[in-house]
Amino acid sequence: MRFVELIEKKKAGKSFTKAEIDFWIEGYCKGDIPDYQVSALCMAICFQGMDRQETAWLCEAMLNSGSRMDLSDISGCICDKHSTGGVGDKTSLALAPMVAACGAKVAKMSGRGLGHTGGTLDKLESISDFKIVQKEADFIKQVNEINLAIIGQSKKLVPADRLLYGLRDVTATVDSIPLIASSIMSKKLASGADTILLDVKYGKGAFMLTLEKAQELAKTMISIGAHFHKDTRAVITSMNQPLGRAIGNVLELKEAIDTLQGKGPKDFTQLCMEMGSIMLMQANIAQDKKTSSEMLHGAISSGKAFEKLKEMCAYQGGDVKQLENPNLLPKAKHIIPMPSLHEGYIKGLHAQQLGIAAMRLGAGRATKQDQINHAVGIVLQHKTGDYVKQGDCLAFIHTDSELSEEWKHDFYEAISYSKESVEPDTLIAKTIDSNE
Ligand code: URA
Repeated sequence: MRFVELIEKKKAGKSFTKAEIDFWIEGYCKGDIPDYQVSALCMAICFQGMDRQETAWLCEAMLNSGSRMDLSDISGCICDKHSTGGVGDKTSLALAPMVAACGAKVAKMSGRGLGHTGGTLDKLESISDFKIVQKEADFIKQVNEINLAIIGQSKKLVPADRLLYGLRDVTATVDSIPLIASSIMSKKLASGADTILLDVKYGKGAFMLTLEKAQELAKTMISIGAHFHKDTRAVITSMNQPLGRAIGNVLELKEAIDTLQGKGPKDFTQLCMEMGSIMLMQANIAQDKKTSSEMLHGAISSGKAFEKLKEMCAYQGGDVKQLENPNLLPKAKHIIPMPSLHEGYIKGLHAQQLGIAAMRLGAGRATKQDQINHAVGIVLQHKTGDYVKQGDCLAFIHTDSELSEEWKHDFYEAISYSKESVEPDTLIAKTIDSNE
């Protein structure tokens, strides 16, 4: 087989066989196929796509490029969730303890943030001494003992994805549904959970700009899950405005703590409740939505969900006192209010622009090598649909340095107004619970 023929084949819009896909991934991982040929193929896939069968085979080949977590020593159903990434998305920090407090096992591997989106590991590392690296045996023991562990992804899993993603990132070939679906699902499947719940975001701060594209991505990932006989479901949610109010690591951790104590923002709480309900049903802990949401409400009102976060923190070496008293978490030097320049209904809070604004404060990374500042970020005081008068505080900016005129200009550019009242997007646009 010559790789150039595979590029020709995809360029002509034809489908690959399993052997051809295995040849590609094995050859690329061994270093037999150069980057420039794989970039050309990825670009052809961006234009011609891949059918569901090819996408599942690609995911399988990527999965087989490394080892898989063996979680068979964990008793009970192990649930995992994944978000395709957004601004202010601290869902794992609240949702994982909530479902773990209801009896589900969560053995989760998470990632770091890049660009305008944040990562769960960075948020957890806002806690002093919190360890995101663990021996496999300790990870399993922790989940057996307290139902919950969140660590960084092992480098042994899916090396093909690391190579391919690095290449796609610099060749404008990230935004292809089959490439995204196989990349995400290979990592989820390698992590070894029994069930997977996907939060596929659409809108101004997401990979998928439209609801239709997000649905297509969700269905593609669910069909990969079906290929591997894994219960895989999805919620499709809006990322036109940031989730909740806080953007930035410590600030988001505090918002997750508030949510675990029943004092979180409405939209974020709603998402955690919806996803938690589905996860408890996937784990067969609850048979219907009513029961699962009662269980989740109970876990919050009894304090058990917050206790779970503290237990995980203690097991992973973190300073539990900082969770009990979030004032002990790192603080920015300045908290600057941003007054509204106009009067009217807030029509848009551009999620991506606000994510980039937070990144420029130091909350995120422009490149993988960048160091982040856990304390800084943005706390919105209003969301889409709210009415504000000129001078009302739109947001508090937590920063270690003065805000430049350019930064303020870009912040205000992210906000649009309307004279007419505005109905915000429905946060949860759809749930998909079977392979359609
Ligand atoms: N996230 C991933 O893990 N992979 C992609 O291809 C895109 C987003």
